Amino acid sequence: MAKAKTTAFFCKECGFESSKWMGQCPACHAWNTMVEEPVAKTASVPGRVTLGVSSFSSGGRAGGRAGAAPVKLDQVSLEEQDRISTGFGELDRVLGSGIVAGSLVLVGGDPGIGKSTLLLQVCRNLAAAGRRVLYISGEESLKQIKMRASRVGEVTGELLFLCETNLDEIQAAIEGEKPEVVVIDSIQTMFREDVASAPGSVSQVRESTNILMQIAKGLGIAVFIVGHVTKEGVVAGPRVLEHMVDTVLYFEGERNASYRILRGVKNRFGSTNEIGVFEMQQQGLVEVENPSEYLLSGRPEEASGAVVACSIEGTRPMLLEVQALVTQTNFGMPRRTAAGTDYNRVNLLMAVLEKRCHYEMSRYDAYVNIAGGLKMNEPALDLAIVLALVSSMKDAAVSPKTIIFGEVGLSGEVRAVSMAEQRVNEAIKLGFSSCILPQVNLDKMKSTDKIALYGVRNVREAIGLLSRV
Ligand code: TYD
Ligand code: MG
Repeated sequence: MAKAKTTAFFCKECGFESSKWMGQCPACHAWNTMVEEPVAKTASVPGRVTLGVSSFSSGGRAGGRAGAAPVKLDQVSLEEQDRISTGFGELDRVLGSGIVAGSLVLVGGDPGIGKSTLLLQVCRNLAAAGRRVLYISGEESLKQIKMRASRVGEVTGELLFLCETNLDEIQAAIEGEKPEVVVIDSIQTMFREDVASAPGSVSQVRESTNILMQIAKGLGIAVFIVGHVTKEGVVAGPRVLEHMVDTVLYFEGERNASYRILRGVKNRFGSTNEIGVFEMQQQGLVEVENPSEYLLSGRPEEASGAVVACSIEGTRPMLLEVQALVTQTNFGMPRRTAAGTDYNRVNLLMAVLEKRCHYEMSRYDAYVNIAGGLKMNEPALDLAIVLALVSSMKDAAVSPKTIIFGEVGLSGEVRAVSMAEQRVNEAIKLGFSSCILPQVNLDKMKSTDKIALYGVRNVREAIGLLSRV
């Protein structure tokens, strides 16, 4: 008699299941991602999300057998969509004005970035506002949590803690305590007994998230899930994890810098290009309401190769410093590096300088950096990068009271960018006295006497302006 198969191969990227090993996943075409894992003995087929579990479910047990009657949209009340404030304006904005009951939010980020701290503080705020909250940790002991909690301030109200990794126990605890918000720290430590593979494996992560989703949708509880990220910077575990949850947030920042950026990459309840800025302090995370001021603090004035640019993050303009260092190359191959911005973009801009402005860039090494470890890829930074390069090459400082933005095209033309007026207003707010911007944007703008505006049509005009502003 043939033996029943007890293992299968799963793709670590997308969760594709196959009975034999393959070098390349036929579903997502990733190489070397198939891992062998025991097959779940449960009735639920791994990878297949119960379709009844929809993010719109309002009332009734979603995914359950009972009450699976179709309804009209006008029968759906939106009351339950009422948002719960997290007590952090920055987080609320990223979530789309607060937590939605019954939503599943995945918070990813490098170890030690502050995911546990952020969620503990959120729980503390929610409890102080009279909400019932359950924080489940599979990574830390109650003592460790208490030590952390003593740093972030007094905990009051209905904030319960549980150290547990068995999801069946967790499910029982949630159903018993009926909290409004649950935090799972982290999904990689959770396991289900009837899935035979180790915690953190593809099938465990997927099954665990499935259970959590049923809890969230079924009981209308908002669930925050902490997820670790891999070396490549994506949440460890199959991509299906990201597909299953309603919202995916990434907590990023430089290890040695104190501020942290919370970025939404998927949100069923709001926009995904909003960011929240926090600073890690002795007493936990503190919101940074005016990031421009914060990012520009401590910048060297009158240093060559440093210019201030303006980038739009979601709906917010942010001023930041672009630095460039251009030095004569010692070898035949000039070195180029780009930190915080796209390397290829820097190469392209240098080619534009070489061809359109006749600078001998091939004789120089160039290092470009967005100060503070931020990652910005907006084309509006192009002109600032170009002018920082030129400023460093000529060793001539750009006035510290000037801000620069504009997209640079391949023929050296300076093209219009979006939301120019907001950028200029932010510069005025922070006391800048002049602004170099695309002429096309300037043409459409109301004149102002609060700041001197210099419109440019191409890179050469902009370089010519450098000595004048
Ligand atoms: P943590 O929340 O444990 O990170 P994660 O859960 O993402 O792995 O963050 C721990 C780091 O934050 C640690 O390096 C110490 C620092 N920290 C502070 O600087 N101040 C504080 O008040 C707290 C609680 C942590
Ligand atoms: Mg943690």
